[in-house]
Amino acid sequence: MTRFVRRIALSQFRSHAATALDVDARPVALVGPNGAGKTNLLEALSMLSPGRGLRGAAVAEMARAPGALGWRVRATVETPEGAREIVSTGEPEGRRRVEIDGKPAAQGALGAVAPMLWLTPAMDRLWIEGAEGRRRFLDRAALSFFPDHGAAALAYEKAMRERNRLLRDGPADPAWLAALEARMAEAGGALAAARAATAARLNAAQSGAKTLFPLAEIAIVGDMEQRIAAAAGTPSAHPPEHADIVEDFRAALARARREDAAAGRALIGPHRSDLAATHAAKGVPARLCSTGEQKALLISLVLANARALAADTGAAPILLLDEVAAHLDAERRAALFGALCALGAQAWMTGTGPELFEALGARARRFAVAETAAGSTVREAA
Ligand SMILES: Nc1ncnc2c1ncn2[C@@H]1O[C@H](COP(=O)(O)OP(=O)(O)OP(=O)(O)O)[C@@H](O)[C@H]1O
Ligand SMILES: [Mg+2]
Repeated sequence: MTRFVRRIALSQFRSHAATALDVDARPVALVGPNGAGKTNLLEALSMLSPGRGLRGAAVAEMARAPGALGWRVRATVETPEGAREIVSTGEPEGRRRVEIDGKPAAQGALGAVAPMLWLTPAMDRLWIEGAEGRRRFLDRAALSFFPDHGAAALAYEKAMRERNRLLRDGPADPAWLAALEARMAEAGGALAAARAATAARLNAAQSGAKTLFPLAEIAIVGDMEQRIAAAAGTPSAHPPEHADIVEDFRAALARARREDAAAGRALIGPHRSDLAATHAAKGVPARLCSTGEQKALLISLVLANARALAADTGAAPILLLDEVAAHLDAERRAALFGALCALGAQAWMTGTGPELFEALGARARRFAVAETAAGSTVREAA
């Protein structure tokens, strides 16, 4: 079983005035000079999945300038359940609209139709920068396994913001504060449980694999996640023994009102959790690994995520790997291509020269991306 984009058409999307591409289940290599529009095409693909996409950009920013009259990405996606038509539209006033098979749909529904994972050069510094990027990486992985994860995150944030406001504006109504803390604890427990289960799945999916990519052993640094991981024999998103962990967090929030009011924000909770990774074979924390090793650890996690999703859903997710080949030596590049083909994943990869994709041979489609006065062009290359 496979899942892949069969056709994609972009209009007025960043440097692309009108680009259409017909492909098959094989990986796709996009080759072209700097500024040609390769990453823009991957970003357009990421608009077939929920959220702000590969660059985390605002809807209006993606509209082709000058003019900026809105953009559209249309795609036919082959899934184990049959072909689906997705239309994602960025309206000039900054809203995104989604249609699936001709009917308006919630963005969240895209997650099941076109599960997608990505790696970008911006993530190269993931292990050495602040916790926020690592949390986002972990939460995207969690969302890929648990579609409810996004809703839990939103509910948590909303209750937390409201509690912050109440504590700041004081004198706060204790009953209203207690209700918000109960909501934070409930949603936070769901968040933490999904994260803990995600970490367990990513570790398991890596340890079973024979690849050149180093095992990145991950652990979540966060009170609730750690307690859930310790309590759960078999990790799952909703084990019953979470009730006391949720209750302890609720009580801790109630005790922390004075400190949180002084700080202007909640000082405890899963919004402060971090993701720790270790290069297992070397026993070295990811942040101390070499640049290439840090990249390899990320690739290892993304491949593990894809493998686990393939086992769950019967087909590998679509992968967007921006400039992934450039950082790897020839042997690791070949290993990556081998792993992608073994997965049967449609991986969209970019690079500045065709030599980067030589080892793929006939296993991939190749396209040349170029910049012209009329916008980016994409042509199949030999
Ligand atoms: N909203 C927009 N409207 C028009 N052009 C845009 C818009 N946003 C970005 N661009 C242009 O898109 C061009 C191509 O960007 P892109 O990031 O896709 O290049 P690339 O092929 O990935 O290059 P590199 O190899 O350097 O990563 C840039 O020159 C940029 O100026
Ligand atoms: Mg690029």
